[in-house]
Amino acid sequence: METTSDEPAVLAAGIVKSFGDVHAVRGIDLRVERGEVFAILGPNGAGKTTTLEILEGYQRADAGSVRVLGLDPGSQRPALKPRIGIVLQATGVDNYLTVAESIAMYSGYYPHPRPVDEVIELVGLTAKRNARVVRLSGGQQRRLDVAIALAGDPELLFLDEPTTGFDPSARQEAWEVVRGLSALGKTVLLTTHYMDEAQNLADRVAVVVGGRIVAEGTPSTLGGRDALHPTVRFELPAGVATPEWLGPVTRTDGHVDLVPDDLVVTLHRLTAWALETGVPMERLEIRRPSLEDVYLSLVGDPGPDVRTDGSAR
Ligand SMILES: Nc1ncnc2c1ncn2[C@@H]1O[C@H](COP(=O)(O)OP(=O)(O)O)[C@@H](O)[C@H]1O
Ligand SMILES: [Mg+2]
Repeated sequence: METTSDEPAVLAAGIVKSFGDVHAVRGIDLRVERGEVFAILGPNGAGKTTTLEILEGYQRADAGSVRVLGLDPGSQRPALKPRIGIVLQATGVDNYLTVAESIAMYSGYYPHPRPVDEVIELVGLTAKRNARVVRLSGGQQRRLDVAIALAGDPELLFLDEPTTGFDPSARQEAWEVVRGLSALGKTVLLTTHYMDEAQNLADRVAVVVGGRIVAEGTPSTLGGRDALHPTVRFELPAGVATPEWLGPVTRTDGHVDLVPDDLVVTLHRLTAWALETGVPMERLEIRRPSLEDVYLSLVGDPGPDVRTDGSAR
């Protein structure tokens, strides 16, 4: 297959898009390397779908520059289309076709399609090859959506909220499909409002709120998470004071919380103190801020109003 250049899969700078008085995207920069799984994580209305549609060439940005696989999706859409696969937030596949027929129909649009049965196997629908779409479960239908996006053997896949509304087992299955795409060397750009989905699937995550990226990084570094100190928590009987050398602590409902500078040294001295004095130190634990804590702290602040006229939404 022809490769246009060694440019990144996606390179966007300063993209802006408004619908009337709604500022959906307010200056987004993105760089997605080839072979990466990249997640745009954000709440409803953050501008995720609009961003994706601009990258796909469905919408034109009001401002900014966009290159996808080295091409301009606005003016070079015909050249780009056979090289990308798209899974929309909601799809309309003909319910009365079978799985194999649906995929074959889409394969027909592409110059170098991947063989239909190979695609079916990739998304784990072999047992449902001849089942009508109407008979598939929600999770199986979503896998069919991915299969259709794969029919043309694209280099880059856009997945808009691939598991929204799924039960836990269907989500796991969909995650396996995404991991399979990544193992094939495909670049995947997905959107999600599930923090754990981004954490489980993505090499890198951009958190988008109100049309802007408010944090970007790997799931472990996002929002400075690796730099945040863990909290030590334990319970002490009422009336028992913590040792003075421990410094400031917070006591609520029998819990003692502290944020030590040196976790190992503090834990060592603390447990030695408990053993020497015989004070029962119950439920000792170390709490590290989760990606969810970080995400909620980022999303919890709704940021500036998204309307140009300043009215409340
Ligand atoms: N075609 C449209 N016309 C008017 N407003 C739109 C249109 N598409 C999106 N919006 C608005 O733009 C904002 C971002 O929408 P969207 O990109 O769909 O967000 P997300 O996918 O993160 O939920 C929302 O306020 C939405 O209502
Ligand atoms: Mg959306």
